[in-house]
Amino acid sequence: MPVTINDIKAMKQKGEKITMLTAYDYSTAKIVDEAGIPLILVGDSLGMVVLGYETTLPVTIEVMLHHTRAVVRGAPNALVVGDMPFMTYHVSIEDCLRNAGRFIQEAGAQAIKLEGGVTVAEKVRRVVDCGIPVMGHIGLTPQSTHQLGGHRAQARSLDTARKLIEDATALDQAGVFSIVIEAIPYKLAELVTKKVSVPTIGIGAGPYCDGQVQIINDMLGSFTDFVPRHAKQYVQLADIMRKAISEYDSEVKAGTFPTEKHSFTIDETVIAELEKE
Ligand code: KIV
Repeated sequence: MPVTINDIKAMKQKGEKITMLTAYDYSTAKIVDEAGIPLILVGDSLGMVVLGYETTLPVTIEVMLHHTRAVVRGAPNALVVGDMPFMTYHVSIEDCLRNAGRFIQEAGAQAIKLEGGVTVAEKVRRVVDCGIPVMGHIGLTPQSTHQLGGHRAQARSLDTARKLIEDATALDQAGVFSIVIEAIPYKLAELVTKKVSVPTIGIGAGPYCDGQVQIINDMLGSFTDFVPRHAKQYVQLADIMRKAISEYDSEVKAGTFPTEKHSFTIDETVIAELEKE
């Protein structure tokens, strides 16, 4: 049975840790889904790790829908969350509802995620009222990178920590089914996790959240520009890929690939006939 938001919420009640990973394409989504990861986020982080932009800001809704469709095709079991990109929910509630609906109707996602707390709570309520599950995202919100002064840890003072709790509470009351908490002190994340009724999914928010999310290219070591402090590389895929690619390069140059095993045959009489022409 495909994972539902009720399954995710029940995991917090049962004290079961929740794992979420990003995916941006069919093949990766299939592997993540087969590994039993219940939540897949098609994050706008794809702007950085797939498309090579410096921030997530240039990512458009068309790009997000394109990648979300691919992930949905590869993940029949996990709950797929589509990330609303910059300026697709900021201008008006109408815009927000229309764009949230596109993720469900045109891309087949089961939920959407948007960044912000108190300021987006009304929009969250309206999207949820339309029957679309919403995942919140507070703390370091990369779409506000210029306002925040870069990708840096958030909520480290009394005022900003208090504001973070207000944001989490506002999202909880607005009806989100879970909240991503990014790059905040782990003791504050623990406090927020106790205060809200829905699961918290941490990234750079320590071990006491209800779940964790990682950007798949970070944890597989295939994104080589930098390694964020919150990331753990479980494998160095870039090294493995480099080695395989140079082996391929050497074999093609040496004439040892392809062999007959990788080639197609034809009846010898056909060749003989053609050679005569
Ligand atoms: O875009 C993304 O991948 C995200 C995660 C960092 C949570 O928002």
